[in-house]
Amino acid sequence: MKLGVVILAAGQGTRMKSSLPKVLHTLAEKPLLGHVIDTARHTGAERIAVVYGHGGLQVPESFPDSDLVWVEQAQQLGTGHAVEQALPAMQGMDRVLILYGDVPLIGGGTLTALQQACSSSALALLTVILDDPTGYGRIVRDDQRRIQRIVEQKDANVDEQAVREINTGIMLVEGAKLERWIGQLENDNAQREFYLTDIVAMAVSEGIAVQSTQPQDPFEVMGVNDKLQLAQLERHLQQMRCEALLRAGVMMRDPARVDIRGRLTAGRDVELDVNVIIGGDVQLGDGVKVGANTVIRNSRIGSGVQIFENSVIEDAVVAEGCRIGPFARLRPGADLAADVHIGNFVEIKKSQVDVGSKINHLSYIGDCTIGKKVNIGAGTITCNYDGVNKHRTVIEDNVFIGSDTQLVAPVKVGAEATVGAGSTITRDVAPDSLALSRCKQIGRVGWKKPQKR
Ligand code: UD1
Ligand code: CA
Repeated sequence: MKLGVVILAAGQGTRMKSSLPKVLHTLAEKPLLGHVIDTARHTGAERIAVVYGHGGLQVPESFPDSDLVWVEQAQQLGTGHAVEQALPAMQGMDRVLILYGDVPLIGGGTLTALQQACSSSALALLTVILDDPTGYGRIVRDDQRRIQRIVEQKDANVDEQAVREINTGIMLVEGAKLERWIGQLENDNAQREFYLTDIVAMAVSEGIAVQSTQPQDPFEVMGVNDKLQLAQLERHLQQMRCEALLRAGVMMRDPARVDIRGRLTAGRDVELDVNVIIGGDVQLGDGVKVGANTVIRNSRIGSGVQIFENSVIEDAVVAEGCRIGPFARLRPGADLAADVHIGNFVEIKKSQVDVGSKINHLSYIGDCTIGKKVNIGAGTITCNYDGVNKHRTVIEDNVFIGSDTQLVAPVKVGAEATVGAGSTITRDVAPDSLALSRCKQIGRVGWKKPQKR
């Protein structure tokens, strides 16, 4: 059984009131269409075609994956017309699954159930019962509850409008029959569109018993038409993710105030305080505590690490036992060995810091290699940029850098050396030596302040 997937994503999304094509708006930092493509990949599909139109090439260019088939629908003449554009890409597929680029939370379990329903029929629909069905296509059944057809809101009579079972739009169709039925579609309806939904009545007229299943969670079939709906789906997705993490043993003081926008892998006894944001791939080892208002993206944090409030960590590696923050910033390439302490208002970029070293206050460390048990005093700056090129600073084991030191790279401070506070270091410092570059202090006893004339 070869399965093909067609994702409809050509619509404009006027109500988003945005210049960005609707399907490129993000949910948990991933485009809506990206969620659908990822779910489609898990169905075992042989081929995935995406019908795009509004927003032009911006949509396909956002997904460089080479295995996707992009089909342009220059004019949006209806869902049936959209699927028609993708038919050449579905040649040889036994079954075709129709998904929507703006229905991002459709789940794998629900699609598996739909596939099972279709095993006994050439057509299976995903339907749902809503308190307020306004705007949706209604599922019309006969007195034996057999599906007869789908009628769109604008074409429905009063009785049909009272039906609360609606078409989610997601359906699974036998490939050869889909092609034949699409060929017979007409647009003699209220919207002058080619409705994909008209294939239901065609199937029924051929004696096919159309099957239906329902989603496991109603949010799975919620579409995004405006930013209010997008925010509602974001909240729902966050709630699902946080509940799953709580059940897996991750403690959150308030799951409504934690955002997992990427993928979090956490060990035992991990705690996230309020307003923590996790982006990209983040790994937290056993016992990691993350303080309030902290953002962590694409980083690996070792066990026992404590991250205090208001820290921002991106593309960094932090080994076990480190203490970070409050107000620390670890930028891409920050690589901290075990038991390193990074304190407030310290920025680390593209630098390795070896075991047990401390940079506790107000420092910038960029393009730097720091050895073991180094102490970097408050206000130390690696001057790594000469306006054109970046240069490295090397600080060997057990060095003591006094406060308010500038290290003008390229420069090296040898092991066990001491740099006196307030120094501007422009030449290498020999191991076991003292380097001092500040002016001598002068004192004038009895000096008189100038008087105002
Ligand atoms: C469609 C269904 C309706 C269902 C509803 C669920 C039809 C005729 N109606 O209605 O039964 O209840 O979805 O939300 O199918 N699209 C294209 N090209 C087009 C038209 C649409 O790609 O020419 C895409 C849109 O981008 C969107 C999806 O198809 O992702 C649905 O289109 P939309 O206009 O929202 O369909 P509805 O009229 O709401
Ligand atoms: Ca719609």
